[in-house]
Amino acid sequence: MTDTRPSLSAAISAALLTADPRAKVMAARDAARNWRLGRLSFGFETAMPDRPSWPNEPELLDPRNMPRRGKGGSEKGRLALWHALAHIEFVAIDLALDMAGRFGGKLGEEFVSDFMSVAADEAMHFAILDRKLRRLGSHYGALPAHAGLWETAERTSHDVAARLAIVPMVLEARGLDVTPATLERVRSQGDEDGAKILSRILDDEIRHVAIGTKHFVAICAENAESPEKRWKSLVREHFRGGLKAPFNDSARLAAGLSRDFYAELAT
Ligand SMILES: [Fe+2]
Ligand SMILES: [Fe+2]
Repeated sequence: MTDTRPSLSAAISAALLTADPRAKVMAARDAARNWRLGRLSFGFETAMPDRPSWPNEPELLDPRNMPRRGKGGSEKGRLALWHALAHIEFVAIDLALDMAGRFGGKLGEEFVSDFMSVAADEAMHFAILDRKLRRLGSHYGALPAHAGLWETAERTSHDVAARLAIVPMVLEARGLDVTPATLERVRSQGDEDGAKILSRILDDEIRHVAIGTKHFVAICAENAESPEKRWKSLVREHFRGGLKAPFNDSARLAAGLSRDFYAELAT
């Protein structure tokens, strides 16, 4: 019998090519739910776009031209913080979708299910942060944002091991390092609602790093390679700038990322 269900890759590609932020959130969550419920076939005939579609705003700026975001509690500083976090989560939706759609055909159903669940989390994180911005009288797109986040995806689109080494195991792991301090600062400013948001995101991000690490280690095992050695060589090759200490060793370890991976690359 032929499979008449729509394919997963078509659903993922459609979500990647949706520019409007709220529509992208819906498309990503629908694709993840439809995959979970068996409504999409394990089909990979649709190629992933080189670049996802994004809204006209925010204006994307080279990191060097981004206005400095102070650590103070001014209203402007707070808006800049939530906006920057919303942007990271917005790009994270596309990164998770692209991971599943670009590499899932080779890596298999568990890989796909894992990264579709990550995409659904990132869509939720973005939606929560956009709501937070709206409560503060702003919205996603009101400020300029960092242009560089998709570059790592482009540099690693040929190699799933490289993509896993950089996106979950460097970038998302970096989130584990910096979020606790941000959370404490937000709480000390009396923003308990903001602290709750960050605490939820931190818990989910530990799971995302764990998923990335699990699949990276499995790929290395198949090739009889040391995961720590392979990871260090991929990070040196594909990630500009060393890894900034201090690290959140306990959160990283909870995600399966021991110091044997990263201590040597600390700057
Ligand atoms: Fe996230
Ligand atoms: Fe994440």
